[in-house]
Amino acid sequence: MSKIIAVHSFRGGTGKSNLTANLAVAIALQGLRVAIVDTDLQSPGIHALFNINETITGKALNDYLWNRSSIADTAYDVSSHLKVEGKGKVFLIPSSINTDEIAKIVSEGYNVSLLNSGFRRLIKELQLDYLFIDTHPGLSRESLLSIAISDLLIIILRPDRQDFQGTAVTVNVARQLKVQKMVMVINKVPSRMDLSALQQKVETSYQVPVAGIFRLSEEIAQLGSSGLFCLQYPNHPFTQVLRTVAEKAIIDY
Ligand SMILES: Nc1ncnc2c1ncn2[C@@H]1O[C@H](COP(=O)(O)OP(=O)(O)OP(=O)(O)O)[C@@H](O)[C@H]1O
Ligand SMILES: [Mg+2]
Repeated sequence: MSKIIAVHSFRGGTGKSNLTANLAVAIALQGLRVAIVDTDLQSPGIHALFNINETITGKALNDYLWNRSSIADTAYDVSSHLKVEGKGKVFLIPSSINTDEIAKIVSEGYNVSLLNSGFRRLIKELQLDYLFIDTHPGLSRESLLSIAISDLLIIILRPDRQDFQGTAVTVNVARQLKVQKMVMVINKVPSRMDLSALQQKVETSYQVPVAGIFRLSEEIAQLGSSGLFCLQYPNHPFTQVLRTVAEKAIIDY
C-alpha cells in the first residue's frame, strides 16, 4: 500500500526540506520507490539539495497547477544522480523558482484540490511506495490539505519556545483534521541539552510520540543544503538517527 507522508513545521527553518530529502533517499536505498513534491510554492528550496535547476531543464509543479502539463511530466527521476540503484527510485517534483511564477501563485492563488488529484496520479503512474510532501511553514491552504490527506504527518520542531508554542497549533489542527498518524522530530538540539528530558517534555506536552532527535550539526550547516547529507556522511550520528526514523516510523508503519 502506498503512503503519503507530509513533513511540516509551524515555523520556518526547522529542517523540513533537508529531513524530507534525506528520509526519501534513505528509503529509496532500501529498494523502494519514492517521490518528493515541493508544495512550498511561495518559497521553494528542496530542489537545491538535488542540484536540479528547473529553469534549465523545464517543468515544475506550477505547470501542472496551471494546466500546462500533466503532473507526471513535472517529475524528475534523480535516482542515478544520487547513485540510488536497483529497484529503488527517487523522483522530485520541484516548484518553480521563477519570479513571475511565484508572483502568480501569491497574487492569483490556485485550485488546491488539484494537488490531491495530482498526488494520487503520481502514486499510480510512478508506482510509488511513498510520496513525501515538503511544505511551507505555518498553516497555508496547501499545508492543511497535506495534513488532511497524509497517512503519516511528521512535525518538526527545534527546542525553542517559539517552536513549542507554534507546534501546539499544528497538533490541534492535525487532530481536528483527523490525521491518521502523527510523530514528532526534534531537530537542531544543542550538544549540552539532555535528549531524554527533551523527549519526555515533548511527548508529555503534545501526547505525540517522538520518532527521532537530531543534534545541531556543524557538518550539516557546512553542507548548506548543497547535497544529500546521508550520502556524504553515511556514518554520521545524523544519518544513523535518520535510518532509524526511516525504518521504525515509516517502513515498519
Ligand atoms: N541538525 C541540523 N544542524 C545544523 N543545521 C541544520 C540542521 N538541520 C537543518 N539545518 C540547516 O538549517 C537550514 C534550514 O533547513 P531547511 O531548509 O531544511 O529547513 P526548512 O524547515 O525546510 O526551511 P523553510 O521553512 O524555509 O522551508 C539549512 O541551512 C540546513 O542546512
Ligand atoms: Mg523548506
